[in-house]
Amino acid sequence: MDGFATRAIRVSTRTRRVDQRPTSVPIYQTVTFSAGSTDELADVTNRRVPGYVYGRLDNPTADALGDAAAELESAEAGYAVASGMAAIHLALLSLVRAGDRIVCTRAVYGSTRSLLVGTLGRFGVATAFVDPTDHAAVEVALAEAPARVLYLETVSNPTLVVADIAALADLGHRHGASVVVDNTFASPYLCRPLELGADIVVESATKYLSGHSDVLAGIVAGSRAAIDAVREAQVQTGGTIAPFAAFLVLRGIATLAVRMERHAATAAALAAWLETEPGVARVHYPGLASHPGRAVAARQLANGGGMLAVELAGGAAAGRAFIDALRIPERTASLGSIHTIVVHPPTTTHRQLRPAELVEAGIAPGLLRVSVGLEDLDDLRADFARGLVAARAAAGPEAAPA
Ligand SMILES: Cc1ncc(COP(=O)(O)O)c(C=O)c1O
Repeated sequence: MDGFATRAIRVSTRTRRVDQRPTSVPIYQTVTFSAGSTDELADVTNRRVPGYVYGRLDNPTADALGDAAAELESAEAGYAVASGMAAIHLALLSLVRAGDRIVCTRAVYGSTRSLLVGTLGRFGVATAFVDPTDHAAVEVALAEAPARVLYLETVSNPTLVVADIAALADLGHRHGASVVVDNTFASPYLCRPLELGADIVVESATKYLSGHSDVLAGIVAGSRAAIDAVREAQVQTGGTIAPFAAFLVLRGIATLAVRMERHAATAAALAAWLETEPGVARVHYPGLASHPGRAVAARQLANGGGMLAVELAGGAAAGRAFIDALRIPERTASLGSIHTIVVHPPTTTHRQLRPAELVEAGIAPGLLRVSVGLEDLDDLRADFARGLVAARAAAGPEAAPA
């Protein structure tokens, strides 16, 4: 008989044969998968036959999420990774080489801007920032010198600028650029950039796809060839998603449609009400008639979404007072969650931007970004009314009610 230690390892890793289909995707919490022979191991490792070897290469729970993302984004293939930033950097890494140029929307997530300017900049990849609503300026930037990538956000963080993906994808392609779109603010329920002509869609699954602020994850979707290149980059750099994280995103995806409808209904009502309140200089919400991208949003998005931004007339002091007076929202970063989350982008999500860059990106000192959660509308409206009272008091006499 084998010794105790040998038997303990054997009995504790013996898997069950299951003939019935589980109704949730099992969490394959294992890094290694054992092959029946040396030849089989070599064939699977070299992808001559399908299968699993090592968790950084492939995992069945992660693959289930990649496939789900592909189907929801209308893509040939999808791939799940450790975070939204992993998705973005892997998509870019799979496309660019030293000496290349990227044209990117000006109103872009802060860490994405840092990745482009700081990290990719150090490797000889230059980025030009443009206003995505100014198609003539985008065309000039694309024509100035060859661009490998045109990078957009469907709805930008934090100013809710809506990019006309169909028109911009066409422009990008005419100038030989691959079009990469961050669809995080919209989710595939609101918008599917690949159907509008984009080549690769990236998304922070930390947000709406998972929906509960309890998991970091990212997805990339596109053609088989594009996703094979992303997988290769991931295998080399290790932005691997954990099986449990992939499971949580799959669980979230099941309720994405109902959550997005509720997020959007509450956000639309709050936005319309906020626009009429004294002390509010401007409300940015793609579902409002006052939004400059209203027509594109109506064409491109299933609804106005769950994100809005409010510019308070009293500037940063009013913004701080507003947030600190709120009882319901969480004072934290992130978005797309069950909780309403209110942040002051200049000091949090977009802290990497210098004052001039904040101005260029349209981020006013008193701008607040609101990710509308799933709480009751009446409770949120009452809480925001309380916030506005505090904001008006903090603004002082120089800030006239807007
Ligand atoms: C638009 C957008 N893209 C990407 C990311 C990065 O996602 P993650 O935090 O999952 O890396 C974020 C994070 O807030 C985001 O807002």
